[in-house]
Amino acid sequence: MDAASLDRICRRQKVKGLYLMPGMQNPTTICIPERRRAALAKTAEHHGLILIEDDAYSLSRDEIFEPVSSFMPENSIYIAGMSKALAAGLRTAFVRVPHRYRHSFCEAVLNTIWMAPPLNVEIARRWIKDGTVDRVLLRKKEESAVRFQLAEKILQDYSFAGVKTGFFIWLSLPEVWSGLLFEQRMRELGVNVFGAEKFTVGDAPAPAAVRISLSCVKNRADLASGLQLIKRVLDEGPQNSFSVTM
Ligand SMILES: Cc1ncc(COP(=O)(O)O)c(C=O)c1O
Repeated sequence: MDAASLDRICRRQKVKGLYLMPGMQNPTTICIPERRRAALAKTAEHHGLILIEDDAYSLSRDEIFEPVSSFMPENSIYIAGMSKALAAGLRTAFVRVPHRYRHSFCEAVLNTIWMAPPLNVEIARRWIKDGTVDRVLLRKKEESAVRFQLAEKILQDYSFAGVKTGFFIWLSLPEVWSGLLFEQRMRELGVNVFGAEKFTVGDAPAPAAVRISLSCVKNRADLASGLQLIKRVLDEGPQNSFSVTM
């Protein structure tokens, strides 16, 4: 997303709001570069949009970027969830809401989840204060970096996007495949990947791509054998991949 394409869309259609994951988009892993963020915010404000910024993954990166929300603080809701970078079980997120939206935001929480679990919030607070969060983040980044290198090595003949401490990669498939077909083929072989079709919205055509999680599998050995199987299926193509065995 950049300012010019946002402007074009807003001139064509009635748009009220914008949902962005600029820190690392799920599933493409795209990050909006800092130089584009101010222009994007300016265009969003020009068209009277409210921004919902989902910063679920940015804590898993080494680089720190200025949130798009900080360029339009009165018209944006910034959400930094702890699920991805720390622990999904905490059900805790930090949210910055401008004053005029506070009441409706609290009502939305009340009408959906009632409240954030108070004990969990207290655990998150203590873990932030005593350094546990920093340690967990560091360990996760170290493990993710090793797993990312594994993917780089095994899938070196193929093209994928990702960041070196990220939890997943976005693999572009040779044209003979669709995301869905590849996902089905891999499932038959016991490997779960998500085809682009799972992520497309409305009538948008799905690119030939799949998201591969690097963090779901328990250990590096299992990850390596899954990635090797993916490589073999890619090497053999849809016609011949039936010869692949576990
Ligand atoms: C796009 C996106 N944002 C945020 C989250 C985190 O949500 P929660 O904080 O409710 O676990 C998820 C979880 O799957 C997600 O897919």
